[in-house]
Amino acid sequence: MIANAPLAGGAFALGSWHVHRAGYGAMQLSGDGLYGPSGEIDGALDVLRAAVAAGVDHIDTAEFYGTGTVNRLIREALHPYPPGLAIVSKVAARWDAGGSLVRADDPDELRRGIEDNLATLGTDRLAAVNLRMMEPSENPGPRFDAQVAALVQARDDGLIDGVGLSNVSRHHLLRALDHTEVVCVQNLFNLVDQRSYDVLTECQSRGIAFVPYCPLGLPGTQRRRLHADPVLVAVAARLGATPAQVALAWLLDLAPNILLIPGTRSRAHLAENLAAAAIVLDEPARADLAGREQSGAVP
Ligand SMILES: NC(=O)c1ccc[n+]([C@@H]2O[C@H](COP(=O)([O-])OP(=O)(O)OC[C@H]3O[C@@H](n4cnc5c(N)ncnc54)[C@H](OP(=O)(O)O)[C@@H]3O)[C@@H](O)[C@H]2O)c1
Repeated sequence: MIANAPLAGGAFALGSWHVHRAGYGAMQLSGDGLYGPSGEIDGALDVLRAAVAAGVDHIDTAEFYGTGTVNRLIREALHPYPPGLAIVSKVAARWDAGGSLVRADDPDELRRGIEDNLATLGTDRLAAVNLRMMEPSENPGPRFDAQVAALVQARDDGLIDGVGLSNVSRHHLLRALDHTEVVCVQNLFNLVDQRSYDVLTECQSRGIAFVPYCPLGLPGTQRRRLHADPVLVAVAARLGATPAQVALAWLLDLAPNILLIPGTRSRAHLAENLAAAAIVLDEPARADLAGREQSGAVP
């Protein structure tokens, strides 16, 4: 395994912020229920502090990760926040009484969602907030415009620095751009699931940060397939890295506007993931890893 190294991989703009391309996604800290209410996991504060100590300046979170648990952990671990630490959250979902993630995406709910994030994180402003759609396949219409307008209003009121989108199609992105600047788009994207490639390239052409979620694969079959992909495993062995590191390095190599937010509860995996930013893919590795997408990539 390639060992930890000073934070490599360069930086990219996140609106008015400039962040390292190697960041951290905090969702895994919500415990075994992942999104659901759960107890706090051992070592969460250590992982968060170790990430920032290593140079991470971009943390992704959501109020609904553990129903505020993850935001409170971030606050406990890192508040007062160091200057330059970009905390990005997302709104438009909540947990219902039955434990299902449901929409909370009326404009007034989006505003409350932003305010809830600010309260649990203990801050008065976030670097960006993503409007997270339930379904990327939904056609954007007037309702979407009103949702975007709610985030624009929050930005105008000084609650957020940038408007982001998550789980969106290229049509959503273009429609949102008719109304506002967009600083980041967070979609599912990884070596074996590149269905958002058109969104990535649209972002790249406009200088918008593209933040792939589940960069190591959706939980379940897709994640197992990615880690066991024989070509990925062979390239990793040749480069003296782990398959996870090469999967992350492949993303960084693909486009300069990609910002990584791999999630982990483990200090060892954190170090491994940050070290991935120092891996340079050679041409044979690039050629081998091209076309690893699995058709109909489903969870
Ligand atoms: N916008 C959205 O709808 C959305 C959806 C999902 C996630 N997200 C965001 O994206 C972030 C990343 O996604 P994710 O956490 O779901 O998936 P991920 O980063 O692709 O993978 C996380 C999983 O991989 C394991 N892992 C991490 N590093 C590893 C390594 N070096 N070697 C082997 N296994 C490793 C973790 O387990 P260990 O804890 O054991 O390391 C965890 O089970 C989240 O934290 C969240 O902030 C956003």
